[in-house]
Amino acid sequence: MSVLDSLLGRGKRVVALDIGSSEIKALEVAASGQSIQLQTFASTKIGNQNETIYAIREIVRHAGFRTKRVISSVSGRSVIVRYVSMAQMPEEDLKQAIRFEADKYIPFEVEEVVMDTQILEDSVKDSDQPEMKVLLVAVRKSLIDEHLALLQEAGLQSQIIDVDAFALGNAFELRARAQGGLPPEKVVALVDIGANKTNINILKGPISYFTREVYLAGNDFTEAVSRKFNLDTQEAERLKCEPGDQAPEVEEAILPTLDDLGNEIQLSFDYFENQFDRVVEEVYISGGSARLPGLQRAFEGAFEKSVVFWNPLENLEVKADRIDVNALNHYASQLAVAVGLASRVRRW
Ligand SMILES: Nc1ncnc2c1ncn2[C@@H]1O[C@H](COP(=O)(O)OP(=O)(O)OP(=O)(O)O)[C@@H](O)[C@H]1O
Ligand SMILES: [Mg+2]
Repeated sequence: MSVLDSLLGRGKRVVALDIGSSEIKALEVAASGQSIQLQTFASTKIGNQNETIYAIREIVRHAGFRTKRVISSVSGRSVIVRYVSMAQMPEEDLKQAIRFEADKYIPFEVEEVVMDTQILEDSVKDSDQPEMKVLLVAVRKSLIDEHLALLQEAGLQSQIIDVDAFALGNAFELRARAQGGLPPEKVVALVDIGANKTNINILKGPISYFTREVYLAGNDFTEAVSRKFNLDTQEAERLKCEPGDQAPEVEEAILPTLDDLGNEIQLSFDYFENQFDRVVEEVYISGGSARLPGLQRAFEGAFEKSVVFWNPLENLEVKADRIDVNALNHYASQLAVAVGLASRVRRW
């Protein structure tokens, strides 16, 4: 970036686009020095999958972005994340080696997927065959193609495609940076509860050691309300989000589903704790459904750990003349994935 570019505000600028199953979230950000400036914020709800393209177009039309460059993410069953042990070898040999072993780890043909790997740590373990822990990410090409077509149809230019769970981790790391970084041995679980799924990412220090998507989230809470009060989905959704004086009955209707979700999350903690012999110390919740009254309390009871409703925007510089700061703050918990995508603007 030239000095002139930075004087004219043409620095590195990008739109972070979180295409959720129920809401699209977009943050236009620019890197200025070490900090990230949030310049535009837009969100819109989507009805069903067919409407996604219209929702993105609506955002693009109304938000007034000054760039078409986009960082977005994918998630779901076509995204496979595995943590595998392999014989120690240089990074450049790993890509080749993993192709031969990939069918052990992923349920698709190797030709069907785009793969990436990252060495997490060398575990020496007194053996004559030293091993290393490798993060393997495989995404079905068909999903990437669909995703790219969607962005292109909306007139956007894809720069990076990330994975929801890792974006969540990056958002958390950005927040920790201001506080001197993440202690290398500290284990925390990030839990993002959306509409269709709950994303779990367990970090030790800045490194992700476990991710999982549980298909139990806001839509299931809405369904519980719909059944109990005999309402259609839209009415139940409204009552769930604004229960007013019916709050106790709504909470009670949702409690069994919330228990199920708590159990699924606990299973993930147990798995991690067995694998790594480390305890999850704290839980950080985000996503639209983290705002559900009673959720934080229920989780605290279930996990017997501190459950923190965190603000992913804490470490962004907000350009207040272009943004409705109140609306933004109210919405903050829903922006964790988008903030994580936005954080990559600095590493370009
Ligand atoms: N105040 C509230 N109380 C309870 N639930 C809420 C509230 N506000 C939003 N939600 C729920 O949050 C969900 C939307 O959150 P979010 O935007 O994180 O999901 P998404 O990214 O679209 O979904 P996914 O990640 O599962 O694809 C919806 O299910 C909505 O009902
Ligand atoms: Mg989401």
